[in-house]
Amino acid sequence: MHAAPPVPEIDALEKSPVLPQIEFRSVTKTYGKITAVRDLSLTVSRGEFLTILGPSGSGKTTALMLLAGFVAPTEGDILIAGKSVGSVPSYRRDQGIVFQSYALFPHLTVRRNLEFPLEMRGMRAAERAARVERMLERVHLKDFDDRMPSQLSGGQQQRVALARALIPDPPFLLLDEPLGALDRNLREQMQVEMKSLHKEFGITTICVTHDQEEALTLSDRIVVMRAGRIEQTDSPEALYDRPETSFVAKFLGEANIFENPNFKIESDEAWPSGTVPMIRPERIRVAAPDARNRGDADQCQSVIGTVDDMIYAGPLRKYHVRVGSSVFIVREQVAAGQPIFRPGDGVCLEWLRSDIRFVAP
Ligand SMILES: Nc1ncnc2c1ncn2[C@@H]1O[C@H](COP(=O)(O)OP(=O)(O)O)[C@@H](O)[C@H]1O
Ligand SMILES: [Mg+2]
Repeated sequence: MHAAPPVPEIDALEKSPVLPQIEFRSVTKTYGKITAVRDLSLTVSRGEFLTILGPSGSGKTTALMLLAGFVAPTEGDILIAGKSVGSVPSYRRDQGIVFQSYALFPHLTVRRNLEFPLEMRGMRAAERAARVERMLERVHLKDFDDRMPSQLSGGQQQRVALARALIPDPPFLLLDEPLGALDRNLREQMQVEMKSLHKEFGITTICVTHDQEEALTLSDRIVVMRAGRIEQTDSPEALYDRPETSFVAKFLGEANIFENPNFKIESDEAWPSGTVPMIRPERIRVAAPDARNRGDADQCQSVIGTVDDMIYAGPLRKYHVRVGSSVFIVREQVAAGQPIFRPGDGVCLEWLRSDIRFVAP
């Protein structure tokens, strides 16, 4: 595939179907007194789309740079296909990388931008041309091949950057905030495209983002990082539905967390010590104080409160409801015939007991 000889033992091991493709073993990276990444252990399987999600400064980029070989671990080891890559320089690692700033060559056309990495690998002109042609088709850039990057929209530039990373057929793809520079609509569109590209190419992808929606949309698995450590690793569904800590619950969406509830929380599960109850705003129904109609009263809990605030957000309505000293956030989908409550109105909040989760505070 590659005309220039790749690092032989890595190339051979890359083909192994059984080993995890990528493994971080207790990796720590410090910069003076700052610990950017602390005791990170993680495996990534072949073909997986893994997202590292966390707030700014949580160590996401450092984790990616460690894997790319741009920075060396202070402690621990990184293995690719079971083999330590500690001594393999980044330029021999043969990975595809896309950063937030697209870093396309501004003086080269789209076609030349795609050809460049193949040229660097010493591929013959005819093979290069054929491969570029195929890639232009696959990423729908055929009509733009003679344009300069400055003549493309942000989304198109990002597509060229992805194509350029994919064209040498790397064993894995590293993305750092790849859609961070795009506006909301374009970002959503690119999320769909990236998902279908990942499906089509089946390439192992590690993506770093602080955008929870992006993480939920794209990933097979999400690693939530906080202050250099892994807070939780799970599927998007599991992270959203069963967060282990209040940090994860709040980072992925909104959460009602009852640190000091002034009412008794009923739950089907035993309340584990050292945890606090949590419920998602969309799991709570708001109704007139006398209208409880979820049925199955024995599976529900309800409390009476007063509307503090009602926020209208297109198809969603958000209420802040005061119950004693607690304020509930409730989110409901707007539907025909639904009553609207105003600040000062008394309401009944109702939820299924099985929707209560227990998280570390
Ligand atoms: N080259 C560096 N020198 C010193 N500190 C750094 C360096 N790179 C990152 N850091 C620090 O490490 C921490 C994690 O940074 P980073 O991995 O960039 O976080 P993120 O990508 O999640 O925003 C931050 O406190 C940052 O200031
Ligand atoms: Mg970063």
